[in-house]
Amino acid sequence: MNADSYNLGNIAAVIGTQWGDEGKGKLVDILSEKYDIIARATGGANAGHTIYVPNPLNPEETSKFVFHLVPSGIIHEGKIAVIGNGLVVHLPSLLEELDTLKEYKIDLTGKLFISDRAHIVFDYHKKIDGLEEEQKGDKKVGTTLRGIGPAYQDKIARRGVRFGELLDFDKFSEHVRSTFVQLQRMHKDLKHDIEKELEEIRKMLGFLRPFIADTALYLHKAAKEGKTILIAGANGTHLDIDHGTYPFVTSSNPTSGGLHTGLGIGANKISSIVGIMKAYTTRVGGGVFPTELHDEVGEAIRQKGGEFGATTGRPRRCGWFDAVVGKYAVMINGLTSVNLTKLDILDDLEKIKICTGYKYKGNKLESMPPTISMYENLELEYIEMDGWLEDTSKAKTFDELPENAKKYVLKLEELVQCPVQFIGVGMRRDQMIVR
Ligand code: GDP
Ligand code: IMO
Ligand code: MG
Repeated sequence: MNADSYNLGNIAAVIGTQWGDEGKGKLVDILSEKYDIIARATGGANAGHTIYVPNPLNPEETSKFVFHLVPSGIIHEGKIAVIGNGLVVHLPSLLEELDTLKEYKIDLTGKLFISDRAHIVFDYHKKIDGLEEEQKGDKKVGTTLRGIGPAYQDKIARRGVRFGELLDFDKFSEHVRSTFVQLQRMHKDLKHDIEKELEEIRKMLGFLRPFIADTALYLHKAAKEGKTILIAGANGTHLDIDHGTYPFVTSSNPTSGGLHTGLGIGANKISSIVGIMKAYTTRVGGGVFPTELHDEVGEAIRQKGGEFGATTGRPRRCGWFDAVVGKYAVMINGLTSVNLTKLDILDDLEKIKICTGYKYKGNKLESMPPTISMYENLELEYIEMDGWLEDTSKAKTFDELPENAKKYVLKLEELVQCPVQFIGVGMRRDQMIVR
């Protein structure tokens, strides 16, 4: 894919349009070649972005990298990474990720800035995540158990602890202890040695301090100087706390609104928002999934697509493409274009179905249902298309795709009402078609 073949403007964003794992990391990696700064705005280490790129130590080899907090674009030399105020960050997880990158001689000292307003995920948040899931029994969300929900709960309840506080460790420790006492009152089964965790954090301080910055100000100044910014979305539109399939969602806003609040970048400053849409649908964890397949076709997609969670290793649930889901994402996020991913995974299917609409009690719905109980009475409308039964993984242009594959892409574009600008036909960087 030639970097001159697209122009997404000075501040572009990549976001998930389904239930996560659409392939955001791959497009972020590819686009980062053209951008100076790559910034995460929301979520935490619940995200898992896998990319396959030339090994930085031996470009002849392909290496797999899995990113959770650091944006995947950082593999390109000379890039700056930003972790915005909208994130919740578990310090040992971040350090582990930085250590892995160092093994490949990618040292982010001076190249990574963490917002002084980002919230810290403590080990007790992870334990509370587990306790809350247990209490929910068969209604459990199926979280990643990374402490994301409990950390955002503390943020909203105004007892959360932010990175800026680390700069005065005594005051920071006092705040953490008082928050912890409140949490112990709420969670009788919470067992945790807070002094031990504080001591572990104290040991990281020397390393961490240089990374902490006012990232909104940094980004604002950088943009004024003409630097370009790529916003790396995490999670997905239908995992959004407002717009997703509540309550089976994450605890933040992965939709475009979250990019503005999560980085402090004005809505009018973002030039393009590319929505990542898998050519079929997957979901990991609990919650409704109208087009889910429980048969051998679903299993075949899971195996060929390698649909196992990058963060938890759980098998991802698989199903047909859902155009209601896609169209809703186009509307909610103001998408300017779409990257259809994993088209190659459908190569072996004789027939491919697409869900084109939902009916509730006989009436056609114009949008996603607002309550989970409504999904129990949904009737799905499908169309069926002929597969192409050819290998798409070597196609370099749209014209090189088999006729039926082109028809499928054009049909999805028509249904979701947004131009498909990029098409993924494999895991590697060169397996991306630009239209
Ligand atoms: P993310 O969380 O949205 O970044 O997506 P994940 O990394 O969790 O899952 C997407 C998986 O699909 C990764 O293993 C990618 O390497 C892989 N992938 C992305 N795009 C394509 C594609 O077009 N074809 C194939 N075969 N694999 C892809
Ligand atoms: P990326 O960025 C897929 C899902 C979890 C669970 C729900 C809540 O890789 O696309 P949480 O731990 O956030 O409280 O879990 O959200 N979830 C994801 N699913 N991809 C993700 O991120 C996800 N982030 C959260 O599986 O159902
Ligand atoms: Mg993922």
